Amino acid sequence: MACARIGGVGVGTFGINHLRCFRQMGYTGEAELVAACDTNEALLQQRLQEFSFRPYRDYREMLEKEDLDGITVVTPDPLHHDIVMAAAEAGVHVLCEKPLDVTVEGCLEMTEACRKAGVLLMVDFHKRYDEYHLAMKEKIQAGDLGKIQYGYAHMEDRIEVPRDWFPGWAAKSSPAWFLGIHFYDLARFLLEANGVAVWATGAKGRLEELGVGGWDSISAKVLFDNGATVAFDTSWILPDGFEAIVNQGIRLVGTKGMLECDSQDRGTLTCCADDRPAQQTHNKSFLRMKRDKYGREVWEGYGMTSIADFALNVNLLLEGKRLEDLGPYPSGEDGIEATRIAAAVHRSLETGGIVEL
Ligand SMILES: NC(=O)c1ccc[n+]([C@@H]2O[C@H](COP(=O)([O-])OP(=O)(O)OC[C@H]3O[C@@H](n4cnc5c(N)ncnc54)[C@H](O)[C@@H]3O)[C@@H](O)[C@H]2O)c1
Repeated sequence: MACARIGGVGVGTFGINHLRCFRQMGYTGEAELVAACDTNEALLQQRLQEFSFRPYRDYREMLEKEDLDGITVVTPDPLHHDIVMAAAEAGVHVLCEKPLDVTVEGCLEMTEACRKAGVLLMVDFHKRYDEYHLAMKEKIQAGDLGKIQYGYAHMEDRIEVPRDWFPGWAAKSSPAWFLGIHFYDLARFLLEANGVAVWATGAKGRLEELGVGGWDSISAKVLFDNGATVAFDTSWILPDGFEAIVNQGIRLVGTKGMLECDSQDRGTLTCCADDRPAQQTHNKSFLRMKRDKYGREVWEGYGMTSIADFALNVNLLLEGKRLEDLGPYPSGEDGIEATRIAAAVHRSLETGGIVEL
């Protein structure tokens, strides 16, 4: 079996999950975490205390010096483009965090460059790997809902995410780019349809007061090309006292049935004396850690499965499969379509009108 040689670009808040994934795939010889790169030297050193890889400050140097089969891009949203382009140029497969890019033009360029270079481009739309959402997909494909007419989705973070995690670039992103994009893609995946028109409204104030800036919340109604409409509420201002870091869910209603999924509360509740907030729910389907028989960390959940799927696809390519034989995965084309919706959401916020895609 092939063993993909992987390099990581960006080892920050979410980049650590990519490192975890490839480290543990190394236990079974499915992938090797060869190198990782970050412009933040102190953070790189911190990660080296926990993970084993050759460190780089410059991804171009990493691509040049290492014989990599694939890289994963986990830098802030507006910085994905150049790194994916460099991977394509180097003939290296690439997994890019969502959104693929913050412009449709950028996504088109990245997808075209990877297509021309014959390299795999995957986007980390991990909601597609959530077993609850896959169960929804099965029901829809079985025809249990009939023709889907409308739906609703929400994804909302506790205010600590923009305020404490990345106050430096939160205003350059938005609840639509950071959160909405997950559910725009999930709706496309479930409906098997693309967005054709968008109308959005938004509000500012709370994050401006805190000096972070940007949109507090964005609500959008999207018409899809199969006639269904879905309303998406996204927000970055849930209070610190909310029971989970993220609140999320989706419901779809069709001519024969309806489906609802609480994508956050998976039925686990804790309430501990020294906790803040006092009572918390946990989405253990996303990420959970256990130790194996040797005491090593093993991370599970759809947050890992989607990243691992990239390395497994690279292995199949190394073993001689063609890109078109890989089966379904969140592709560059999916990245383009999700960004089309998010970009239209922002255009609608600017113009106040309906935007056709
Ligand atoms: N899939 C998910 O659930 C999920 C969750 C959080 C974030 N994300 C996405 O992951 C990406 C990173 O988010 P984050 O929260 O980890 O941000 P972060 O700011 O914590 O980490 C980004 C890292 O990239 C590094 N970096 C910046 N420019 C670089 C460059 N040119 N070369 C190498 N490193 C560079 C920064 O120093 C930083 O350490 C974003 O696109 C975000 O939308 C995805």
